[in-house]
Amino acid sequence: MSFVLEKVVPWGRSYEEYVVMFALTGTDLEKSILGCGDGPSAFNSRLTRRGGKIVSVDPLYQFSAEELESRINETYVTVLEQAKKNKDEFVWKNIDNIGQLGRIRMDAMRQFLDDYPFGEKQGRYVVGELPMLEFPNKEFELALC
Ligand SMILES: C[S@@+](CC[C@H](N)C(=O)[O-])C[C@H]1O[C@@H](n2cnc3c(N)ncnc32)[C@H](O)[C@@H]1O
Repeated sequence: MSFVLEKVVPWGRSYEEYVVMFALTGTDLEKSILGCGDGPSAFNSRLTRRGGKIVSVDPLYQFSAEELESRINETYVTVLEQAKKNKDEFVWKNIDNIGQLGRIRMDAMRQFLDDYPFGEKQGRYVVGELPMLEFPNKEFELALC
């Protein structure tokens, strides 16, 4: 995989944002879930703590927690500056302003980083790249992408 960390801009949503974004019901959350391109989001971590069953796949997971944390810290200010410059292009419905956006996303990415080493050992964060994934057919009940 030609995925270069210096070109990656890690950015991840919170568990609550995932639930709203994918309109997930209580029944959905009880299914075995494949999260495609989950990146540094908090969804896998929180769902696992709630007793859910999820595997996330992303090429980003070839990097260590330390590498990802340092890249998040390097790019965070730039992403927020860009969001500020382009704030009229966004729909500010669930999030009120840039400051809140930054806090929600940084909290989510910290949750991910705290969980990542353990989750990796448990096989919940798998290196992989769409469109071809190395899972048997019918391994999951629900795929999010
Ligand atoms: C903007 S981030 C979104 C992360 C997460 N889904 C969220 O909403 O918070 C997009 C993610 O897609 C991943 N990605 C890019 N190309 C991919 C591919 N071909 N297969 C799987 N993931 C991919 C990136 O590494 C990145 O982590």
